[in-house]
Amino acid sequence: MNIDKGFCMKKLIVANWKMNGSVQLAKELVRDIINGLSVLPDVLGKCEFIICPANLYMYIVRHSSATTPYITLGAQDCAAEENGAHTGDTSASMLKDSACRYVIVGHSERRIDRGETSAVIKAKAQAAHNSGMKIILCVGETLHDRQSGHAENIVRTQLLESVPETANVKNTVIAYEPVWSIGSGLVPELAEIRGMHAMIAQELEKKGWPAAEIRVLYGGSVKADNAKPILNMHEVHGALIGGASMDAAAFIAIAQTVETV
Ligand code: PGA
Repeated sequence: MNIDKGFCMKKLIVANWKMNGSVQLAKELVRDIINGLSVLPDVLGKCEFIICPANLYMYIVRHSSATTPYITLGAQDCAAEENGAHTGDTSASMLKDSACRYVIVGHSERRIDRGETSAVIKAKAQAAHNSGMKIILCVGETLHDRQSGHAENIVRTQLLESVPETANVKNTVIAYEPVWSIGSGLVPELAEIRGMHAMIAQELEKKGWPAAEIRVLYGGSVKADNAKPILNMHEVHGALIGGASMDAAAFIAIAQTVETV
């Protein structure tokens, strides 16, 4: 049975600006992205965009994209707690209040550099859902995991341990990001991406999520020159883009590789 039949889902193209930029750069970048996309109705028919700037620059993206329905504001992290004495943290409800609709949780730069466990990520994901936000939940193996033949098991475990009870197909997008691929210029073989995405989708289907609506993005060194075969795989529903999202032309060029949805 082909349950995909008749179901059309745009590819989700997510910019993760990480801890980069300045007021001026953020203004120019979002302006150039909007100007570039506004003359590409074909791309807008096939892609939706989420921009995740540093929290301080959210107002710029929010203000600049106020009249562009194809751009949604996202955050790169949120606190697990709702409010209180947590100096320096930002709660999901504050993000929601500031017009954010998505938040990235579980990025490997937080799992590894900030020591966030899957339990912490699950709590953050739950806090985001409780505030009415959607999540982009990242999973991915290290080079060591891969070389020792454990990549699939590691990713499965991260997924099962990080996805909270509050998650459903409407409020949760998964991003498969091999750690060794992020910022390195290296990408897995297409068959490897396909296999990992299929496994992730199968695990979510076991939870009762409708197969045709599950979204699994690929992230890790996505550029205009490698995006086409990745983004046009049936199992890949979009991309989480770091480096190339800091350049409007490069970011748009990635979206232009999407052929059909
Ligand atoms: P990259 O980053 O595109 O620079 O590899 C992706 C990410 O970390 O989300």
